Amino acid sequence: MRLLGVSGGPTQSSKTLLAVKTSLNYAKAYDETVETEVVNVSEYNVQFCDARDPAKYEGDSKLLIDKIISADALIFGTPMYRGTYTGILKNLFDLIPNDAILGKPVGLIATGGSDHHYLALEHELKPLLGFFLAIVLPGVVYANNQHYTNGELSSDEIKDKLKQLGTSIVNFHRMMPDDKYSIIGALGPTIKRKSLSDK
Ligand SMILES: Cc1cc2nc3c(=O)[nH]c(=O)nc-3n(C[C@H](O)[C@H](O)[C@H](O)COP(=O)(O)O)c2cc1C
Repeated sequence: MRLLGVSGGPTQSSKTLLAVKTSLNYAKAYDETVETEVVNVSEYNVQFCDARDPAKYEGDSKLLIDKIISADALIFGTPMYRGTYTGILKNLFDLIPNDAILGKPVGLIATGGSDHHYLALEHELKPLLGFFLAIVLPGVVYANNQHYTNGELSSDEIKDKLKQLGTSIVNFHRMMPDDKYSIIGALGPTIKRKSLSDK
């Protein structure tokens, strides 16, 4: 199982990034055969989506698209920005092919200045992942700045939740059939992506 953590904060000292790393470490501790990798999207030179065929992106954009396509399960993390996920993450979701995460277990983590926007994961990020036909774990982790001290995650409650998420996504993936199309329900309408080669 390849478990990819994708963090959409703009800083290297991102609290969200730390939370994603922590959850993946718990997943690895639970099952050492799980291959984990975390990407902090802002450390990559990702292009803005320009509506080309996703297969035609190059460089870091292609690298991240390929990492997402080859992952078996993913944990997405975002700081809350203006009551939703960051533009960095939105752009990444615009870049990936429509079937990049189809039928894959997905866990969600967010960090906000306070808890006021915790429902944004339910009302903003889950519907987006619904478009991609990803299978989002029902329970998410929502931390706030008070859960961190001097750049470290200091809340045992949040650490426990990150452990629950990390172990749950491993358990979820173990239950997945080889044919993920057999459990996703109906496909949505076919939406053709515009390609640069289209006239
Ligand atoms: C542009 C901007 C918008 C923000 N909007 C919100 C918001 O709507 N709700 C919230 O709870 N926190 C908001 N915050 C605070 C961040 O979500 C919070 O500081 C978070 O911990 C940052 O996570 P990071 O360390 O991973 O970047 C905002 C911060 C910035 C810079």
